[in-house]
Amino acid sequence: MDLLKKAIERMPKYELVLAPTPLHRLKNMEKEYDYSNIYIKRDDLTGLGPGGNKLRSLEFIIGEAISMDCDTVIAGGPEQSNFCTLTAVACAKAGIKCILVHNGEKPKSLEGNIVLNELLGVESHFIGKVDSSVRGKYEEELAERLENEGKKPYIAKKGATTGVGALGYVNAIIELVNQCKTDNIKLDSIYAPGGNGGVATGLIYGNALAGFPFKINIISVEYDKAELIKNIEETILEVEELLGLKFEHSVEDASNIIDDYRGLGWGENTTESSNEVLAFPRSEGIFIENVYNSKVLVGMKDQILKGKAEGNICYLHTGGFGSLFSQYK
Ligand SMILES: Cc1ncc(COP(=O)(O)O)c(C=O)c1O
Repeated sequence: MDLLKKAIERMPKYELVLAPTPLHRLKNMEKEYDYSNIYIKRDDLTGLGPGGNKLRSLEFIIGEAISMDCDTVIAGGPEQSNFCTLTAVACAKAGIKCILVHNGEKPKSLEGNIVLNELLGVESHFIGKVDSSVRGKYEEELAERLENEGKKPYIAKKGATTGVGALGYVNAIIELVNQCKTDNIKLDSIYAPGGNGGVATGLIYGNALAGFPFKINIISVEYDKAELIKNIEETILEVEELLGLKFEHSVEDASNIIDDYRGLGWGENTTESSNEVLAFPRSEGIFIENVYNSKVLVGMKDQILKGKAEGNICYLHTGGFGSLFSQYK
C-alpha cells in the first residue's frame, strides 16, 4: 500500500472532504437480520453541501483545475445531478466560477438539487432532453467561447468517471484501511453502487493495489454487467496511466459485480428499492435516495438472506441527499 500512497500523494489535490468519514455499526439491521457486524461508511457525510461520493472525486478534479490555473469549471449532468451540485459547492469553496450544463428542461418549480444550485447562484444552462454526447459537445463549445473571452475553463467530464475522478475512491480505500486499523475494526466485505463506474473503479483498483484488504461488491444500478465492467476497465487504464502502477488483475477476479437488483435501470424503482427508501430511515434514522443507495441496500440485504454475505460487511452510503427532495413531492 505504500507505493499506492506515495503515488496518490503526488497527484494535485484540493481538500474538500472531512475525512475520515464516520464508520459505524447498523445495530438495528444486525438485530433484524440476525447478522453480526454490519457497518456503514458514511460518505453521505463528506462534509460540504449535501455531501456524497462525488466530493471525493472533486478533490482531485478541482486539484487538477487549480494546478492548470483554470478560473472556471464546467460540469454537466441531468437536472438532478448530484455531481453538478457538488461541483458547484466545491467551486464555491475553491473560489472558482462554476457553470453547469444540464441535459434536461428547467423544472417549472425549483426542486431538489436545483434549489441548492440556485442558492449557490451558479450559472446553469438547460439544453433540453439530449443525450450525454450532445451535452459533451455543448460543454466543449462553451469552453471554446470562454477561451476566446480570455478565460481558462476546465471541463469536469463524464460525471467524474475518469481516471482523475476515480482517484477519490482509490484514496478512500487507503482511508478505510487506516480507519479500520485505528478504530480496531475488521471489515471483510464492502457493498457499493455501480453507476457509470467511477466509484467502482477507485474501490476495485485501490483495493487490489492495497493487497486486497476487502472484498468489493458492486451493485449495478445503471448498466448491465458487461457494460459496467467495460467502463471500469477503461477507467482503470486511465488510473494506471496517472499513478504509474499496473492493476494486473481482471475486474471480475478482483471484485464481485452484481447485476441482480437494477430492475429496469437507472432511476427506475423496483418494488424492493421503493420499500427500502422508507425502511432504512425508519430503522436507522439515515435517509437514502432512490437511484443508487436503495438498490445497494436491497442487494446487500438479499445477499445476507441468501447466505452470500461474507464476514463483517460494510454498506458504503454515497449520499445524493439533494436529489431525494425531487423524488418525493
Ligand atoms: C449518490 C450517488 N451515488 C453513487 C453514484 C455512482 O457513482 P458512479 O457513477 O461513479 O458509479 C452517483 C453518481 O452520480 C451518485 O450521485
